[in-house]
Amino acid sequence: MGVLTHLSLFVTDLDHTLVGDDESLERLNQVLDRYRQDLGTKIVYATGRSRASYQELTKTRSLLAPDALIAAVGTEIYMGNVQTPEPEWVKKLSVNWHRDRIVEIASRFADLELQPSAEQRPFKVSYYLSPSVAAAVVQQIQELLAHSSLDAEVIYSGSRDLDILPSKGDKGTAVQFLRERWQIAPEQAVVCGDSGNDISLFKYGRERGIIVGNAQSELRLWHELHPIDYHYLAVAEYAAGISEGLKYFQFVE
Ligand code: GLC
Ligand code: MG
Repeated sequence: MGVLTHLSLFVTDLDHTLVGDDESLERLNQVLDRYRQDLGTKIVYATGRSRASYQELTKTRSLLAPDALIAAVGTEIYMGNVQTPEPEWVKKLSVNWHRDRIVEIASRFADLELQPSAEQRPFKVSYYLSPSVAAAVVQQIQELLAHSSLDAEVIYSGSRDLDILPSKGDKGTAVQFLRERWQIAPEQAVVCGDSGNDISLFKYGRERGIIVGNAQSELRLWHELHPIDYHYLAVAEYAAGISEGLKYFQFVE
């Protein structure tokens, strides 16, 4: 038996990553809860959902209370039980963010269908977009944004959702922000995801990455194009895929 690596920070996406199979979620919760009690591991959820939509999810799924919630695809961070977004993060994202101009540019694309108003957030504009035209539309929007000197990031997830965010406001940069605040080394952190809006989790630091077995094609493709030894593509799906990855990285036995 090898020596276990200390897990100081556990970050996971919710829908189709941690959440998807209730039995394996329950088992993983037990492991994480014990880990947190013994070693003070921080647990963070990084979701595309708004905070309100996350709270809806907690009514039907058993989720451990996180130490921080990264909501709206990284554009909002809620520390512990604090109900308002982390102010320093808000300040960072406010620089050079012109929401109205972005909405105006997006409105020129007939293929974009606005998501419900509850998912429109101060630093996130969200649409639905058919996969058959997605690649072309994403490229055209990116070009128009760049041409207008708008510093924004376009993310397509799950063959359906298109989000436009401040380019420094994705899930990955939010994790870097928390990791620095808590002074945690990337080698003692793990990030888990299944879709396009999780790619940023794997992109910036040297956190250990787990891609669950049911991952969407956009994340699989990204992983194939950027193979790296501290990213692991699990065979098992949902929370069972996370458990498989935690073993692979020797965070658990
Ligand atoms: C969640 C959000 C949605 C977003 C999607 C992908 O489903 O509710 O607004 O587009 O994640 O990031
Ligand atoms: Mg997901």
